[in-house]
Amino acid sequence: MSLPAWLKDAVFYEIYPQSFYDSNADGIGDLEGIIQKLGYVKSLGCNALWINPCFESPFMDAGYDVSDYKKIAPRYGANEDAKRLFEEAHKRGMKVLFDLVPGHTSDRHPWFRQSRKPERNEYSDRYIWTPNVFLYPEHYRWVSGVQDRDGNYMVNFFSSQPALNYGFEQRDEFWQLSPEDPACVSTLEAMKDVMRFWMDMGCDGFRVDMAASLVKNDPERTGIKRLWRNVREMFDRDYPENVLLSEWGDPEQSIDAGFHLDFYLHFESRGYNALFRDGNELSAGLSCYFSKEGRGDVTVFTKEYERRRAAARGRGYICLPTGNHDMVRLARRRTMAERKVAEAFILLMPTIPFIYYGDEIGLPYREGLVSKEGGFYRTGSRTPMQWTKGKNRGFSAADGELYLPVDPDPASPDAETQAGEEGSLLGFVKRLIALRHREEELQAGDNFEVLYAEKGKYPFIFRRGKFVVAVNPSGENAEAPLEGNYKEVLSVNAAARAEGGIVSVPAVSLTLFCAE
Ligand code: NOJ
Ligand code: CA
Repeated sequence: MSLPAWLKDAVFYEIYPQSFYDSNADGIGDLEGIIQKLGYVKSLGCNALWINPCFESPFMDAGYDVSDYKKIAPRYGANEDAKRLFEEAHKRGMKVLFDLVPGHTSDRHPWFRQSRKPERNEYSDRYIWTPNVFLYPEHYRWVSGVQDRDGNYMVNFFSSQPALNYGFEQRDEFWQLSPEDPACVSTLEAMKDVMRFWMDMGCDGFRVDMAASLVKNDPERTGIKRLWRNVREMFDRDYPENVLLSEWGDPEQSIDAGFHLDFYLHFESRGYNALFRDGNELSAGLSCYFSKEGRGDVTVFTKEYERRRAAARGRGYICLPTGNHDMVRLARRRTMAERKVAEAFILLMPTIPFIYYGDEIGLPYREGLVSKEGGFYRTGSRTPMQWTKGKNRGFSAADGELYLPVDPDPASPDAETQAGEEGSLLGFVKRLIALRHREEELQAGDNFEVLYAEKGKYPFIFRRGKFVVAVNPSGENAEAPLEGNYKEVLSVNAAARAEGGIVSVPAVSLTLFCAE
């Protein structure tokens, strides 16, 4: 199995298309808007994009409810714009991943409209149905009695998202199909056809939504691994430079299943939240490591990471995001100084960094917004990118309503202001990414050694080749043993001092050292 060489130096940027840049003043971001801002993303140093779903959809879940996998949603443009986006990105040496949602469709998808008919047809088994409405094993989620077909359909997420049928690895009921059943095989072939359609147009691969969810009743994960290895074979054979990135959050499983990349996520992992989030409970205090409260435990992350790193070694990479469209923003309840330290850390780790649009300027989480398109608490992380201090913060020239409101606070960050500001978060992000591109030892890979990580203590110190990173997110100065002589390459907020076998790291700071 080959691993595309470009991944080693990849720095990704996630774009939520509705909120990035509106090119035609209708209040919603679009593909042309992304094309116009490619120069900006490139200027950050990012060389790959992940774009959230932009296919035709009734938007009950912001586009994760697809009604046509081969058609760009008209509000974002047309397929021609996608083609241009791939071309324009490639001209600038950038890759583009689309978001593939293979686990479910919208209930408006033509396959589902066929499947729900009482008469048997080609699509009857494309989704998972029980044989009558009064039968529903309770450990799955079903929608009951709203269709003419006598049966309940399984849902994968919201009720508007019926689960596609890839079969049951273990079958407890007579109506559960095997993954080898022709109906299930044809579901997978249809999804591979969708992948080929976009890759033949220039797309460089996919972030795969709920990648572990496809095969049901699969406790050993044998069925789901078989399925993705089949897809990976197609990649290795026909698209060897393209990549599959899973929303799985368990590299020990996903890399083995054939994914090139998997995420650290705020679920399926204790490590991510131990570093950056308290989970999604908006009321909880910040007891994670990256908080000036200083109550975190970095070893929850390091122990898990060592295991995951071993599983991915030589076979794939683990991705560490600043956030995404499903989590509360990193900026929430953190000062600008704290945001800088957290993002600098992400850019210096051996994982592949993913910057969620706006996190490079510390775009705030917007509390209390009314849910938009199935966003609920996530809505506050999906507001428009703020480009300038001008009208609609430079997001759109619309006179009417925007997809979501921009921040009414004039002090709220924007890209133009930070570009002109000494020591801004944006400036640090650019400097660190540039350094990462220059220094192979700072790129993704396996050169990582923990020098100091103690339960409930600060700082955290690790080595990457000739470099040493000392980070102290807490509000108190902290010290740790460190042998050797080092000179400072860069510091965030304040510089650490390494002397006489001890490194003193000021509160809320990060220092990158190089061995002398
Ligand atoms: C994960 C996506 O990131 C999320 O936004 C979506 O709602 C669910 N999967 C369902 O597709
Ligand atoms: Ca628009």
